[in-house]
Amino acid sequence: MSDGSYPQYAVTPKPGRIGIFDSGVGGLTVLSEIYRQLPNESVLYFGDTARLPYGSRSPEEILYFVRQILTWMADQQVKMVMMACNTSSALALDIVQTEFCFPILGLIRPGAQAAALASKRIGVIATAATVNSNAYANAIQELAPDCQVWQVGCPDFVSIVENNQIQDPYAHSVAQTYLRPLLRSEIDTLIYGCTHYPHLAPVLKRILPPGTRYINPAVSMVTAAARELDALGLRNTSPTWPTEFCVSGPAHQFQRLAIQWLGRQPRVSQINLPTLTASRLA
Ligand code: DGL
Repeated sequence: MSDGSYPQYAVTPKPGRIGIFDSGVGGLTVLSEIYRQLPNESVLYFGDTARLPYGSRSPEEILYFVRQILTWMADQQVKMVMMACNTSSALALDIVQTEFCFPILGLIRPGAQAAALASKRIGVIATAATVNSNAYANAIQELAPDCQVWQVGCPDFVSIVENNQIQDPYAHSVAQTYLRPLLRSEIDTLIYGCTHYPHLAPVLKRILPPGTRYINPAVSMVTAAARELDALGLRNTSPTWPTEFCVSGPAHQFQRLAIQWLGRQPRVSQINLPTLTASRLA
């Protein structure tokens, strides 16, 4: 620690959980998929709400945040991490996969694979950082060079979700503006390139034509995680601990928002992440 102290964690390590993280409540769309496909796994959820949104951050900042979160998750003795954040997957996954001793999965390749199997005219909605990285377009074109990809940065969507404005007419008009170029390009498949966006599905589905396919990359990432847990002999066969939620911002804010998607009151603790030094990363 550069300030000489080690942060006080409000949680105690519980070996064998799966760690997932996002800047905020976007990761809950991944958590639902884990509940569906891996019901016996215990999950440690981290939401970096004090530093959200990630989508307007620089690649260096995102890499630093991801290293901090993974270092904390290593201290919590997780057995695997799924990045429940496309921005982190686009900008940091390849680097951090070689730095930690547990498997780390991202959303971009699984999402690109699912879309390339489904279509030749693919729209991607994502944060500015993810669009600027070109990660989805590169991954799709590597898998299927004949696919056409249109990417749109949707910076206001994250704040609409985090501020619980999904039902407001404002959300609909912002979505209409963002989706206009994709309507013009006649996409038939849309990738939710940010984990916050599946929360906006009812709004987006009112604007795009019926018959449009929607790809939630979390579905194939969790399938890949299940395969990897089996291959490593790490899959849980009976349920253990309830999901533990930790956030870097005020706990009550996350709790208030999460309750409507989880259908119950989550237990949320506010924590401080470790400050990284060269020795913490070595
Ligand atoms: N939900 C995250 C993603 O998938 C981050 C959104 C943000 O904080 O800008 O990219």
